[in-house]
Amino acid sequence: MPECRIEDVLARVCYDSRGVQTIEVEVHLNGAVGRTAAPAGASVGKHEAIGLVNNDAKKTCKVLETYRKKLIGTDAADPYALAELLHEIDGTSNFSRIGGSATYAISVAAAEAASKKKNIPLYALLAGNKKIALPFPLGNVLGGGKHAGEGSPDIQEFLACPKGATNIADALMANIEVHKEIRKIIDKKDPKFSGGKGDEGAWAYSANNKQALEITYEAVNRVSDKLGFEVLMALDIASSSMWDPKRKVYNYSRAGEKRTPEEQENYALELIDRYDLVYIEDPVREEDFEGFKRITSSAKHCIVVGDDLFVTDPDRIKKGANIGAGNGAILKVNQVGTLGDALEFAKVAIAHKYAVTTSHRSGDTPDYHLAHIAVGAHSLMIKSGVVGGERVAKLNELLRINDSILINEGKQVPMAKFVV
Ligand code: PGA
Ligand code: ZN
Repeated sequence: MPECRIEDVLARVCYDSRGVQTIEVEVHLNGAVGRTAAPAGASVGKHEAIGLVNNDAKKTCKVLETYRKKLIGTDAADPYALAELLHEIDGTSNFSRIGGSATYAISVAAAEAASKKKNIPLYALLAGNKKIALPFPLGNVLGGGKHAGEGSPDIQEFLACPKGATNIADALMANIEVHKEIRKIIDKKDPKFSGGKGDEGAWAYSANNKQALEITYEAVNRVSDKLGFEVLMALDIASSSMWDPKRKVYNYSRAGEKRTPEEQENYALELIDRYDLVYIEDPVREEDFEGFKRITSSAKHCIVVGDDLFVTDPDRIKKGANIGAGNGAILKVNQVGTLGDALEFAKVAIAHKYAVTTSHRSGDTPDYHLAHIAVGAHSLMIKSGVVGGERVAKLNELLRINDSILINEGKQVPMAKFVV
């Protein structure tokens, strides 16, 4: 009998940071309980797993009740075997029968329960034998696209990356400073700014793309000078949200601009160059492996990251690796549906020299697990916003991980190594 045998699985409806219903799962072992609620995206990739069954949290809990008994007796400490079982129970390619939100919550709660039972940190359960490092926080400081209202930029996320930080405390502080600096710059331009924020806590300011780019660039440079280490700018273009398949153009509807695929590639390269971007996510749409390849081969010192392109799917990243599409990949457990599949994705990505960024979703919960998943999956970065309880919950957990190792082993955990 496995040491971490699942004794029971309970589900309930609860709420995410947008006030939308989601599913929370408890996995009970003999003497330990893990609990996790599923997050949800707003800018969801076409190839992602289904979230809630019929988009209904209550229905997803009811469906869970029909297969709950099949989970009892399995080993919570083996995320790969649990993923296999969940695929077998579901029987579809995208968890459309039992819901990826349920499989997300079951698989993460099971791992948490096993880590408690074994009395080891969750990241250690996931990390295997490889030495761990702490991921750089990638902080969303100014927002647009599907995370903020009509007046905001078309580009979804303007981010800060404290590449020069040598420890996690300084890295987190740098992103907070950039967030504050952005507010100062906006207030000066527009004393009537309401202080509104988008879904991920980034400022939601009525600016066009160019203005937002300039504001962010100024803020990261000021903070870099003030703190004395490199803080760089990053972008998530989320270009699939702008793609008009009929006209075959990227429609920047708020700016009133359209770009052909070729113009979009050139625009991305211009942005990388003009703003010294360290990272650019989804510069072209989710089907355009060739466009990703061209940008990756021309971009210098910039990680070109597939989010909607790879959707945490090991097969899609293998396809990308074969042609050199991207050199970075987003890891979102709920895109693929289970923790086991996501860990497999990270292994494939790293074996092909992709930098992994483990990411929150725009609709998230105060769960802290993302920090452990990022460390356990050997990520270069963690994308979890800058402010807001559900964002900070993950970032504070990184501080705790660092502290616990400092106390037990007497040394700081090194930051992950940059590849570009
Ligand atoms: P989502 O977006 O969580 O709203 O899907 C985040 C992203 O595109 O990175
Ligand atoms: Zn993205």
